[in-house]
Amino acid sequence: MKKITIAVDGYSSCGKSTMAKDLAQKVKYNYIDSGAMYRAVTLYALRNNLFESDYPNETVLKKQIDQIHIDFRHNETNGKSETYLNGENVEKEIRSMEVADKVSPIAAIGFVREALVKQQQEMGKNKGIVMDGRDIGTVVFPDAELKIFVTARPEIRAQRRLAELTAKGENHTFEEVLKNLTKRDFIDATRKDGPLRQAGDAVVINNSDLTIEEQNAIILKLFKEKTG
Ligand code: CDP
Repeated sequence: MKKITIAVDGYSSCGKSTMAKDLAQKVKYNYIDSGAMYRAVTLYALRNNLFESDYPNETVLKKQIDQIHIDFRHNETNGKSETYLNGENVEKEIRSMEVADKVSPIAAIGFVREALVKQQQEMGKNKGIVMDGRDIGTVVFPDAELKIFVTARPEIRAQRRLAELTAKGENHTFEEVLKNLTKRDFIDATRKDGPLRQAGDAVVINNSDLTIEEQNAIILKLFKEKTG
């Protein structure tokens, strides 16, 4: 069966990763969480005190960008792919609210996007990949055979993210999480480089009222249509 490239884009916390991961596992493709890469750069900037209030010192970050190495490694114990920053497992840390709060300004920087997009294109050069993010179908893989744009009502997205954070032992309020999502969506959609937007040839899925099984069935059907 021919291998294709699958791009999954959409708003914050709308279940893109679950969708992309489940599909990749089912069809035995590689899964790449491009958001984890922007989160890892953000963690690097936080640890190195590069933030001046809400914005990073771009001059210093630019000088150090080549020292930031991100890769994904398979964890045999939990079967998951985990994010490494300069050789250290940062999977848990990059999911914190502190990182979520600072990631969109980092992701709006042109040279950061340029560096990460290049790595993402390299990761997908042999196809057989599912990548999720904001600009995958528009910038990273504009020729992807299957493009999905996911959306869900903001309140539903905030509820899902709150449950995720609570399960990990982070205590936040619904209002705090909703505010973070809304703010990130605004910055992501209005930035100059690689803004969040729906590719003209993307299939839109609003999963507000779908179960994970229903969502997976829709995606698998789309995959089969594309691969014959
Ligand atoms: O999982 P969640 O929806 O919270 O976001 P994520 O996929 O982990 O992405 C975190 C942030 O990285 C987003 O809010 C964007 O600012 C940025 N991002 C991006 O700019 N481009 C991508 N391809 C992926 C993420």
